[in-house]
Amino acid sequence: MSDQSPSSTQIKPPEQRPEHPDFWSKRFAEGVTPWDAGKVPEAFAAFIAAQPAPFNTLIPGCGSAWEARHLAERGWPVTALDFAPAAVATARAVLGDAKVDLVCADFFTFNPATPYALIYERAFLCALPRKLWADWGRRIAELLPSGARLAGYFFVCDKPKGPPFGILPEQLDELLAPNFVRLEDIAVGDSIPVFAGHERWQVWQRR
Ligand SMILES: C[S@@+](CC[C@H](N)C(=O)[O-])C[C@H]1O[C@@H](n2cnc3c(N)ncnc32)[C@H](O)[C@@H]1O
Repeated sequence: MSDQSPSSTQIKPPEQRPEHPDFWSKRFAEGVTPWDAGKVPEAFAAFIAAQPAPFNTLIPGCGSAWEARHLAERGWPVTALDFAPAAVATARAVLGDAKVDLVCADFFTFNPATPYALIYERAFLCALPRKLWADWGRRIAELLPSGARLAGYFFVCDKPKGPPFGILPEQLDELLAPNFVRLEDIAVGDSIPVFAGHERWQVWQRR
């Protein structure tokens, strides 16, 4: 006999809940990944090229991990992390022999081996339901020592249904401004269609 209590009928199956790895594994396994740029975005490449030396970098929710490969090819130490096994399998194929620490784990609970000087954000925050945003802000601050940076792309718009979930400028400030100073905020010109017109490249420095 199936459980028909109100609580059991209200909970969606894991593959319909973006806070669950099955949601993402299903999409990677089916090849339905409209967020995947299939390349390294321009502002990220320019930012990396402008740095005086490699920084130990974390890419949470790495997906296919194009940027991790880019960093490894330039001698940067990089951890690419994703909690969906099918995403990690895709990343492994993209990475080939690139020297990347590819980890299948949950961003909110994994134990980093060494401190990071940079966290790269793309399509990770906007993949998280709003109820996880405050935890995301706390975790980013916890993972970065003073002076370290968070750099990447933010999907800034009023789009409460997702993923991708849009964030308003004041909501992003609320998450980050208590612990970070924003150093850069520019419009993005090479967005893929799902983010077009709403992406900002931002760099934040840990206080
Ligand atoms: C929209 S995709 C973006 C992938 C990649 N950043 C990109 O730009 O193509 C979001 C990714 O975040 C991963 N993810 C979501 N929640 C996570 C969590 N709590 N810990 C680790 N990975 C997570 C998903 O498995 C998925 O691969």
